[in-house]
Amino acid sequence: MFKIPRGTRDFTSEEMQKRRYIEEVMQKTFETFGYKEVQTPTFETLELFTAKSGDAIIEELYSFTDKGGRDLALRPELTAPVIRFYVDKLQMEPKPLKLYYFGNCYRYDRPQKGRYREFKQAGCEIIGTDTAEANAELIAMAYKILENAGVKNLVLNIGNLNILSSLFSQFKLTKDQQKYLIPQIDKSMFEDVFDALRDFDIKKEDASILTEILQTSDIKKIENLVMGDVAKKELEELNKILSFLDKSFGIKNYQIKMSIVRGLDYYKGVVFEIEAPSLGAEKQLCGGGTYELIKLFGGKETPTTGFAIGFDRTILALELEKYEFPNPTLDVFVIPVTEEMIEKSLKITQNLREKGVKVDIDLLRRGMSKSLKYASSINAKKAIIIGPKELEQDSVTIRDMETGKQDLKKIKDIEKIIK
Ligand code: HAM
Repeated sequence: MFKIPRGTRDFTSEEMQKRRYIEEVMQKTFETFGYKEVQTPTFETLELFTAKSGDAIIEELYSFTDKGGRDLALRPELTAPVIRFYVDKLQMEPKPLKLYYFGNCYRYDRPQKGRYREFKQAGCEIIGTDTAEANAELIAMAYKILENAGVKNLVLNIGNLNILSSLFSQFKLTKDQQKYLIPQIDKSMFEDVFDALRDFDIKKEDASILTEILQTSDIKKIENLVMGDVAKKELEELNKILSFLDKSFGIKNYQIKMSIVRGLDYYKGVVFEIEAPSLGAEKQLCGGGTYELIKLFGGKETPTTGFAIGFDRTILALELEKYEFPNPTLDVFVIPVTEEMIEKSLKITQNLREKGVKVDIDLLRRGMSKSLKYASSINAKKAIIIGPKELEQDSVTIRDMETGKQDLKKIKDIEKIIK
């Protein structure tokens, strides 16, 4: 017996039905916002991912050398691949370019519920604008995708890395000191952040200001505490985004969270995360923000923002909330009563399929009562029973599987009745 690799999953047909359904809802929402789908390869050159993050990221990747000696990696995410694609082939496209994608990603993570080594993302990138309305629209789209998919309990947190870094420079923190603080900020360990700031000889009042800004969701308070033109301008932009979210998109339950630092190295400016608190440790459903990669990849600089939704976690959140996924159904199950009826039954089956009806037929010659039992086990809505007596009258028996009511109907009328 072979075992499935650690951190990967098989999906049953019931699970696939749920996944396809949710994927369709997400796809529709992307398209209603004017986004167009793209696809990139599952593996890329290793350098694409180390270019920004350095070699440290290799620990978190599935990387390998192919038979031609090329260093490659299974993609851990799709932003770098999509920007590679953009720089290579799409730079001349009219702006803003709104691209969305679905794709499996691979990370050498420690697997647990909601965290896998192979997982699926639904994401997007907008290239060529960073106006407040563009950012608000993108954040609203992330929220609406999850809302339309049916997730009820959502928390939207919005931060800004430029404000955070301007605070860091305001307090003259060195790069190393910032590096030390960031993981603690990420884990909301604010007492430790305060102690570390004091160890770095930051005045008590200043350390308090910084930790206060990291913890408050009151934008007025932040406005009173931050100094410097960059931070003030970023706050103004943030205020505009929040106002659009509220007044134009009807999204009110957001929170300012200056402690969002994001795990990936390419972010700058606005960042946001959407959580499903019911999921516990792995509750982050979506993460994104403004970032810079184009210039590093050799393209002409232009603003970029994007996000990715963890598809698997979205399904988990829906299951936890007892979301009622549509039941897999079959329109018709065809039952030939005798062996002689098989040819005609196959023909009727195939005619219906060609009209777009979902039809299955008994392929085990198992007889009427077992066939009916099977038809109800696969949620068939109707059964068509084809026997010699019926055929003599150019007819079949159509049984409503829910009520058990049976009627003799002309073969030429089947399609009309079924549809
Ligand atoms: P990320 O936050 O690394 O961002 O991933 C986005 C989402 O993918 C997470 O919020 C989470 O739901 C899901 N996810 C991440 N790792 C795993 C895992 N091991 N198992 C299951 N789900 C996982 C990005 O990937 C960025 N590329 C997003 C982005 C697009 N930023 C700008 N554009």
